[in-house]
Amino acid sequence: MKISGVKGMNDVLPAEVARWHEMEAVARDVFALHGYREVRTPVVEPAQLFARGVGEATDIVNKEMYVFEDKGEELLALRPEGTAGTVRAFIEHGAYVEGPQKWFYMGPMFRRERPQKGRYRQFHQIGCEAFGVAEPFVDAEQIALLDGYLARLGVRAELRLNTVGDASCRPAYLADLKAWLTGRKAELCPDCNDRIERNPLRVLDCKTPSCQPVLEQAPRLLERLCEGCAAHFAQVKAGLEALGVAYRVDPRLVRGLDYYVRTAYEFTSDALGSQSAVAGGGRYDRLVETLGGPPTPGIGFALGEERLAMILEKAGRAPQERRPAVFFISADAAGALEALRRAAALRREGIACELDPRGGKFKAQFKQAERVGARYAVVLGENEVRSGEAKLKDMQSREETPVALDALAARLRG
Ligand code: HAM
Repeated sequence: MKISGVKGMNDVLPAEVARWHEMEAVARDVFALHGYREVRTPVVEPAQLFARGVGEATDIVNKEMYVFEDKGEELLALRPEGTAGTVRAFIEHGAYVEGPQKWFYMGPMFRRERPQKGRYRQFHQIGCEAFGVAEPFVDAEQIALLDGYLARLGVRAELRLNTVGDASCRPAYLADLKAWLTGRKAELCPDCNDRIERNPLRVLDCKTPSCQPVLEQAPRLLERLCEGCAAHFAQVKAGLEALGVAYRVDPRLVRGLDYYVRTAYEFTSDALGSQSAVAGGGRYDRLVETLGGPPTPGIGFALGEERLAMILEKAGRAPQERRPAVFFISADAAGALEALRRAAALRREGIACELDPRGGKFKAQFKQAERVGARYAVVLGENEVRSGEAKLKDMQSREETPVALDALAARLRG
């Protein structure tokens, strides 16, 4: 019986993996330039970590988390995001004693969402977290890092920026928002109605067309920020302007995780359809404390690799796979053995090469050389073994030039 993979969890096949390597290699380079260091944390964490960290009222924790009991012991969860685990590790290993830290991670995350294009149950994030700096220029610097990363991959995405306030201005606003939304209940969709009590900010994020004219009139936090949040937001914008990063302030931008304060942002792309966010993040100044660490401000983002790959594919950017420099074609048993030896020697010198261990007809072997995209082919048989000379055939131009087998490495490198 054929067994299929789990719904919403994808295979990334070899032809596509080259694209993933590129996304990840460029990320590593950009992150190193900015002083971010990699952290690797488990995909399984105590479920409690996400309930407390991401928030019990969020869809991510409330509806979408894969939770299981570890043989009658603790309740565990597959991580739905990377920030909570990174913060846990930061606290558990006392990393805060060394002062501000910048960490990044890459890996699979799990959310039991309804799968659709760009939305999966296992997906991959590349994320950055900067701990220990409350000042707004770190926000601007990190957003600019992400902007620069996307630009290096040739991706154009729109930066939507907002502030979600903090403990001194948000509670009063939330109470007013709740009251206002309750008054307009009849005009809002069932989803909105559901959220008014549980998570009123999320109502602002509703995409239902009939809700739009109503929500446009909703009270805005941007107009009711406390002095500290207003000054912080102004500085973030000034920093972005100084760095030449274009943004659009979107007063209705809210994020699906509860830990954010002040800065919140998303990069969106038209190439993605309805799941338009390729990356999102924001500031979380209380999270380290909430999870049992000393008061430590923080800001971070995560980018969805599947979505970024979709944008790159749509832009016609082909994944760059390494092709063999030479393909050895064997004419007889002596040639086949020589091909085996020569290929191993070239590989030791860092030159990629291939052969067809099945041997067989020339035509079939040449076809194989074409299929793997070899630059050259070399036919080896008894004659070539005896003379130490062979012909180097350019697979594109079909031109043949003589080459001493011992000089092959130098020739291919040149
Ligand atoms: P998030 O907005 O939930 O934030 O996810 C970040 C990105 O992950 C999204 O913009 C999207 O590209 C991708 N993503 C999320 N869910 C899915 C899915 N079901 N399928 C495919 N891609 C998906 C966070 O996760 C925060 N931890 C970001 C952060 C880091 N905030 C501070 N530090």
